[in-house]
Amino acid sequence: MKAVVIRTFGDAEGLEIVDLPVPVPGPGQVRIATEAIGVGGVDALIRRGALAAYGFREGHLLGSEVAGTVTAVGDGVDTSWIGRRVWAFTGLSGGYAEQAVAAVEDILPLPDDLAGADAVTLGGSGVVAHFALDRARLTPGETVLVRGAAGSIGITAVQLAARGGASAVAVTTSSAERGARLRALGATHVLDRSGEGGSDAPAGFDVVVDVVGGRELPLFLDKLNANGRYMAVGIIGGQPPTDFGMRLMDAFRKSLTFSTFSSDTVPAPERQAVRASQFAGAARGELHTVVHDVLPLSQAALAHREMDAGNVFGRVVLTP
Ligand SMILES: NC(=O)c1ccc[n+]([C@@H]2O[C@H](COP(=O)([O-])OP(=O)(O)OC[C@H]3O[C@@H](n4cnc5c(N)ncnc54)[C@H](OP(=O)(O)O)[C@@H]3O)[C@@H](O)[C@H]2O)c1
Repeated sequence: MKAVVIRTFGDAEGLEIVDLPVPVPGPGQVRIATEAIGVGGVDALIRRGALAAYGFREGHLLGSEVAGTVTAVGDGVDTSWIGRRVWAFTGLSGGYAEQAVAAVEDILPLPDDLAGADAVTLGGSGVVAHFALDRARLTPGETVLVRGAAGSIGITAVQLAARGGASAVAVTTSSAERGARLRALGATHVLDRSGEGGSDAPAGFDVVVDVVGGRELPLFLDKLNANGRYMAVGIIGGQPPTDFGMRLMDAFRKSLTFSTFSSDTVPAPERQAVRASQFAGAARGELHTVVHDVLPLSQAALAHREMDAGNVFGRVVLTP
């Protein structure tokens, strides 16, 4: 089968199409003939070598979520899965391929009327958006800021915050055109990447959902209202300064909360229940997914160049 691996860490040209043996599902696993493969921000971090400390090596087969049809099952898995269309989390590898394996607890049947491209745009990121707001205990009437809102996590977070009754849903983004697209999804105020602009935006926020991290994170801690909750869900801008915690201590009397959030810490059945509900909502047209582009698997390097250039709004999807 065709697959895309990291030949050398660095830019997108380090990706290589190779022929690999079709994987054999192990006990508790299924094999899926892929129809859509999500290209996530984390894939670019792994490709650059930025996550080498977490054990990612050159030669790594990228890709963490796919949609497709189950073609084989391993020991202990109900054979009635064979032939069913599913979404699957493949871990942080194995997705950029014509055939992928996943644990049976990480697959979910797809509604007939949900395209594979929409499923891989929403499947992983939607639960991050949901549980970030849930753990932040967002209540109606509160104000929310989504930092890095133009990706698939942010796009869902904006919609869920608006639907959850937030009195304001501000976003950071890099252009007015992106801001307009985010307003159409429920954003009420558009700030630039530094959190400036949006003259009528609230001075402070009860909840910040931050996909970016990076050197400027402390500027956004300053934007929390008293009793504000900060949910760090991504680090596409890199790690924050090592002393960022002092910003919280300096604001001691505001009773702020800083939290990281990883969907890995949510029990699988809870993740799957939320995902199933979001897929149903997307199939009904109530929850919008934004597929930036659909490219053949052989064009994975182009997909990564588009991400690196900052051209992607939503998610790029590959098809085998
Ligand atoms: N917590 C979890 O469980 C979980 C699960 C999956 C992934 N993640 C993490 O989530 C992140 C990817 O999320 P995503 O796919 O939604 O995001 P994304 O599409 O990679 O990026 C979202 C937006 O952030 C803005 N941005 C990019 N680089 C920036 C920078 N240096 N400074 C400021 N803004 C920047 C860009 O929009 P503008 O150009 O409009 O500013 C970009 O479109 C990764 O860090 C990944 O590890 C977390």
